[in-house]
Parts: sequence; structure tokens; C-alpha cells
Amino acid sequence: VIVLPQGFEGCGYLAAEGFEAQLEHELAALEAPVVGKYGRLYFAPGPELPVAWAQNVWKNPRRLAAPSIGAAAKALRALQRGWWPYMPVEGLARRTKLVQEELPHVSAKELEFPPAQTVPPLGAYLLIDQGTLVASPACSSAFPDGVPRFREFKEGPPSRAYLKLFEALTVLGRWPQPGERVLELGAAPGGWTWVLARLGADVTAYDRAPLAPHVDAMPGVHAVKGDAFAARPDRVAPPGAPPLAWLVSDIICYPEKLYGFVKEWIESGRVETIVVTVKFQGETQWSIVQAFAAFPGARLMHLFHNKHELTFAWRRPDEA
Ligand SMILES: C[S@@+](CC[C@H](N)C(=O)[O-])C[C@H]1O[C@@H](n2cnc3c(N)ncnc32)[C@H](O)[C@@H]1O
Repeated sequence: VIVLPQGFEGCGYLAAEGFEAQLEHELAALEAPVVGKYGRLYFAPGPELPVAWAQNVWKNPRRLAAPSIGAAAKALRALQRGWWPYMPVEGLARRTKLVQEELPHVSAKELEFPPAQTVPPLGAYLLIDQGTLVASPACSSAFPDGVPRFREFKEGPPSRAYLKLFEALTVLGRWPQPGERVLELGAAPGGWTWVLARLGADVTAYDRAPLAPHVDAMPGVHAVKGDAFAARPDRVAPPGAPPLAWLVSDIICYPEKLYGFVKEWIESGRVETIVVTVKFQGETQWSIVQAFAAFPGARLMHLFHNKHELTFAWRRPDEA
């Protein structure tokens, strides 16, 4: 624990579980001093920093006196309605639960995809000692500790990777519309393809391996067996042909290779939106992380459903 100083002005960054070292690396690279730390939550002064490995950013945390449970709940309610507690400090979990019981109930209902309505904002707080709260009314994620829990499908998707695409598209607040053209790389066995076809998109799905037969048979799915890196702009969306609405990829490959491919698509101007997972084997390759983050219009995020990989999202700037 590093005790947050009085009068702190800055943000809190909640590392994804098991990826604390990656967040610490990013904060150090940005020369951001960690002036408070509780569990996986790091506080650094100044405006919000562009870090990829934070699962939730506490945008405006402040210390509040909370001499009693009732006073803590009252102070939080005075700021806004929805709150979620982070409970890393030993010995304070029970007290925190009693505070939470006095706050409006936060729905634990599983999320649907695509979402029927926007999720209401959620503030975050923690007790740092018996009488002090740190509370952030604004957070980057509307989900408890940045964790969205979706209703799962036992039949349909042939792999659990579909949850990663559910999350990415929910966080972006956009998803393919019926009839939109989508190019998918590394599609087998077809979890993402199932998501895209279910949305009514027109999906060209590349993989060396086959799709699950029931996904292959879904309307709008065109499987191409072979090297996905052959799907270059001059072949898939040459001038004169309609541009692609979406390029998505969950392909397993060296990050440099994916970077070169994505760069060619961005520079071609023939695609509107890109969502790809950048997978690391062993150490995180920071030069590639920086290169992806440097595309104007890029977002690089570690989603809850990501393992040792980041989700890169990009939208053609004139579409943004
Ligand atoms: C993690 S899996 C994709 C899972 C998929 N997103 C799903 O939801 O079921 C990665 C896929 O990349 C494919 N792959 C790797 N390199 C490839 C290449 N050069 N061309 C085509 N497919 C490739 C593998 O065959 C594998 O099926």
C-alpha cells in the first residue's frame, strides 16, 4: 500500500488481474509517479494517461471523510447514484460491504449483446482506512471494476472467443449492421464469425483451418481456406469495388506481421473500422504497442476477456 496524499489531483488506474507489471511499465514509461497504490489500483497525478493495460480508469478520485458507515454512504449518494466498491485493503471488506448495502442496488444482470440500451455510468470507491473513502464519480468503464459479464451461449459459438468480440463491440458502442461487409482473419473455429453472422453482416472469413460446419452454413458467411494475409486491400476491396465496413482479426501471428497488414489497410483508405487482437508470446513487445497506438484514431485496450494480448480498434478519422 502507498497511502494516497491529501489534496491528490489525478487519476486511478486499475490493472487487469495478472497484468500489474504491464501497467507499471506503462506508467513508468510515461514518467508518471505512483503516489498511491491499493491492490491493483495505482494513482498518478495529472490528467488521464493513455495506458492500455488499465481495466478501469478512475477519472476524478477524491478523498472523503467517512467517520461512520452511514456517513460514507451519504457522502457517496450526494455525488451520484451508482457505485461499485473496490476492496483490496485487508480488514476493510466487511465495512465496505455495509457501506454498499446502504447504496442503491447495482444490477447484477448479465449483459445482452448487442446491448438494448446504454449502460448507466458507475462510480468507483474504496475505503483506505476506517474513516476515509477515495471515490471517483467518473470512470472509463460502466462495468464493475471494468468487468462486463455477458449472458453466455452454450450452443452456437464453437469457441469462447466470441465473448472477446462481444466486449470489444460493446466498449466501442458500435457493431456491424445487417448487410455490412466484414473481412475476418483467423476465423476458425468460428466464434467471432458466429457473432458477425448473427448481426446479419456479410462476412468473408479467412483461415487455414475449417469453420465449424453450422457456422459455415449461416447466412452471410463466406469461408476462404488459406493464408489470411493474402486478403490485402487491392484484392479484397480494389478501387471501383465497395470499401470494407469492418476488418476484424483474432489471428495468431507475430505482432509485427499484423502491424504491417493493418498499416496497409489503413493507408489504402478502403476500410472504415478495424478491430484486431494483438497477441504477445512471452514478453510484451512495447515497440509494437507504441506503433499500434500511434495510428491517428487508434484505441488500444486490454479488455477483460483478453489474455496476454491487446485489442486494437481504429476508425477512419472522417468516420469518427
Ligand atoms: C485464436 S484462433 C481464432 C479463434 C476465433 N476468433 C473464434 O472466435 O473461434 C486463431 C486462428 O488463426 C488461424 N491462423 C493463424 N495464422 C493464419 C494464417 N496465416 N492464415 C489463416 N489463418 C491463420 C489459426 O488457424 C486459428 O484458427
